[in-house]
Amino acid sequence: MIEKINALLAEIETLKAEKADEIEALRIKYLSKKGEISSLMNDFRNVSAEQKREVGMKLNVLKDAAQSRINELKEAFEGKDSDEGAIDLTRTAYPIPLGTRHPLSLVKKEICDIFRRLGFSIAEGPEVEDDWHVFSALNFAEDHPARDMQDTFFIAHDPQIVLRTHTSSVQTRVMEKEQPPIRIICPGRVYRNEAISYRAHCFFHQVEALYIDKNVSFADLKQALLFFAKEMFGADTKIRLRPSYFPFTEPSAEMDISCGICGGKGCAFCKHTGWVEILGCGMVDPNVLENCGIDSKKYTGYALGMGVERITNLKYRVKDLRMFSENDIRFLDQFESAH
Ligand code: DAH
Repeated sequence: MIEKINALLAEIETLKAEKADEIEALRIKYLSKKGEISSLMNDFRNVSAEQKREVGMKLNVLKDAAQSRINELKEAFEGKDSDEGAIDLTRTAYPIPLGTRHPLSLVKKEICDIFRRLGFSIAEGPEVEDDWHVFSALNFAEDHPARDMQDTFFIAHDPQIVLRTHTSSVQTRVMEKEQPPIRIICPGRVYRNEAISYRAHCFFHQVEALYIDKNVSFADLKQALLFFAKEMFGADTKIRLRPSYFPFTEPSAEMDISCGICGGKGCAFCKHTGWVEILGCGMVDPNVLENCGIDSKKYTGYALGMGVERITNLKYRVKDLRMFSENDIRFLDQFESAH
């Protein structure tokens, strides 16, 4: 019996197999219930009492050796390509769905790019601001309604710390730090305490532009606005300026563009006027320059500010402002991908 075990041990050392069915055949030959090792186990009953211990140990060694040899063969085989489990390297990959850019990011980038071509560079500031940078430095009177609890979010019951209500606060910060020439474009998120509906939200986005230098005039502003409107909405776009009021500009104006939907003939979108309002602008009030340490006798400047949502609505005809913040993939997927 011992000889038989030794012979099987030697045989097992040299076993070879290349395919799954060959390995399975070996397993059956040695390890199955009717296999060679099992039949030796059956013969074990007849082994004399003195030999039982030695033969028993040998048999166990044999069984383990057979098991581990077959496992080895299996592992070696699984590491190899076989016909069945083969990977087809010529098959085209599954398409990886690309994300899309958020429409507000697309439009914000487009606005900034147009002003960058005019020599403006990006400036940013904090969303949690103090009263000075959002209101006081910008010439808002103490009792101006924009400071009202209805409009402004105050932080931790401190009336001095607010969520900025407009990106004009970035102007203030830049003017305090730098002397003219200043030519900046400030994109960012702003907050107002509004009831959320299809046409108002408690946060939205603005882009602000500021240009301060010697001899900057209203004509410069008008030319920049015309350039912007034509680049953004097409070469046929017309602009008109209506007198308006902002505490930080004097004179102030609001700009309309000819309605791109009806071409100026009048439609529901432009309320049959042929014009749609898109931004506020004006010459920087000398008080604002002085508040920020800029000599208003030496320098003049213009500023303008627009809502990114409004421009996006015009461009993509999004009818409900809430779509911008709902993260609905069906909406977002319709925009340009991110690469
Ligand atoms: N800050 C104004 C707003 O939030 C927009 C604005 C108007 C900005 C006129 C300007 C400007 O720079 O000159 O409604």
